[in-house]
Amino acid sequence: MRSPVDIELIHTIAQLRERLHPSRSAPIALVPTMGALHTGHGTLITKAATETACVVVSIFVNPTQFNDPSDYQRYPRTLSTDSEFCQRHGAHIIFAPSAEEMYPEPPQTFVEVGAVSEHLCGKFRPGHFRGVATVVLKLFQIVQPDRAYFGEKDAQQLAVIQRMVRDLNVPVEIVPAPTVRESDGLAMSSRNQHLTPEQRSIAPLLYQALQHALSTIEKGERSAASLQQQALATLAVPGIRVEYLEIVDAASMQPIETIQTDARIAIAAWVGSTRLIDNVFVPACH
Ligand code: PAF
Repeated sequence: MRSPVDIELIHTIAQLRERLHPSRSAPIALVPTMGALHTGHGTLITKAATETACVVVSIFVNPTQFNDPSDYQRYPRTLSTDSEFCQRHGAHIIFAPSAEEMYPEPPQTFVEVGAVSEHLCGKFRPGHFRGVATVVLKLFQIVQPDRAYFGEKDAQQLAVIQRMVRDLNVPVEIVPAPTVRESDGLAMSSRNQHLTPEQRSIAPLLYQALQHALSTIEKGERSAASLQQQALATLAVPGIRVEYLEIVDAASMQPIETIQTDARIAIAAWVGSTRLIDNVFVPACH
């Protein structure tokens, strides 16, 4: 493990560009985050550090991807513990700009990714993926990484970024990493810390519903409607309000009626006032 002085904390775009200039002869990795880092992020950073000589972790709570201002306000901001965390997991540089640094004037240019961003979260969080795609492209322009790492927990976000990179010929390899779970199956998320003990005790039902659907698929069920109905029954408990539970094509994120191609079963549900998402991959040959 390196000593605590090794990690560099950079707040401005100009300083980051200057710092990265001499490192460009070797590959650079970017792990984009909004901070409040947990083991899921740790896995991305460690993977990046194993594969790349220079790892930049960006920590920026991006206002343009929050459709609810109170959600933006209460998003946890924990830069000092995040810095130690990045250090422990092998990152070299933290880029933590202010909102003014990233958006010195109201932007007039946005990245709109089409159909892949319209269902699932796109339907319930208008403008969210426009904000995500725009800030990720800005981060790619600022850092100019060779690779960027994204978790599969945010499967639609990953599909949106993959599509953006393809459509706009962005020379960045997108590296996905599997969802990291607590021992009871709950997908790790910065939002889990908002759950009360009672809410935390029912939150693993999201993963149980997904697992239940997977085992029904193992037994030969292919109908999305039937899988959806059964999975929803698992979630019919007081304290959980399902926003969506859908079976979609894994690449296009469009709803499907029958599982024939690689698919994902995706859930968003409110547990109290906290919105949680989760999903599982269903390979076509299942
Ligand atoms: O997944 C996140 O933390 C954010 O959506 C991202 C990719 C860092 C963009 O702000």
